[in-house]
Amino acid sequence: MRYLLRLSIGVLVVGAIINAPADAQAPPPPADPSATGAQLFASTCGFCHQNGGRAPGRGPKLAGTERPDEFIVNRIRLGKEGAMPAYGRAFSDAQIRSLVAYIRSLKDDSQ
Ligand code: HEC
Repeated sequence: MRYLLRLSIGVLVVGAIINAPADAQAPPPPADPSATGAQLFASTCGFCHQNGGRAPGRGPKLAGTERPDEFIVNRIRLGKEGAMPAYGRAFSDAQIRSLVAYIRSLKDDSQ
C-alpha cells in the first residue's frame, strides 16, 4: 500500500514537471479587439512582465528596451520556445502595434 502511494506521488510529480513548459505554450485566449495596448498588456502580458512591463518577473523588464520595433513585433507574434507564448493568432497587426506603442511609452525609471 505504502509503495503504491509513493508510486502515485512519483507519477504526479513527474507529470507536473512534464506539464510545466506546456503551460508557457498554451494558446492564449482571443483578445478583445477594442482593448488598448495598455489593457492588452495588463490582461495578457503582465503575468510574466511584471508591473506593466516595468520590472522583470518570469519575463524580462520591457521598459526602456533598445530592441527595434521589428524585434518586438516578431517576439509577440512568434513567442519563444519554452519561454513565451506566441500571440500571432490571438492578436491582429493593429493590436500588436498598440502593444509596441505601449511598451515604448513605458518610462525606464525603476533602475
Ligand atoms: C508565460 C510568460 C510570458 C508571457 C505571458 C509573455 N511573455 Fe514576453 N517574454 C517572456 C520571457 C521568458 C521572455 C524572455 C525570452 C528570452 O529568453 O529571450 C520574454 C521576452 C519578451 C520580449 C523581448 C524582450 C527582450 O528585450 O529580449 C518582449 C518584447 C516581450 N516578451 C513582450 C511580451 C508581450 C507584449 C506579451 C503579451 C502579448 C508577452 N511578452 C507575454 C515571458 C512571457
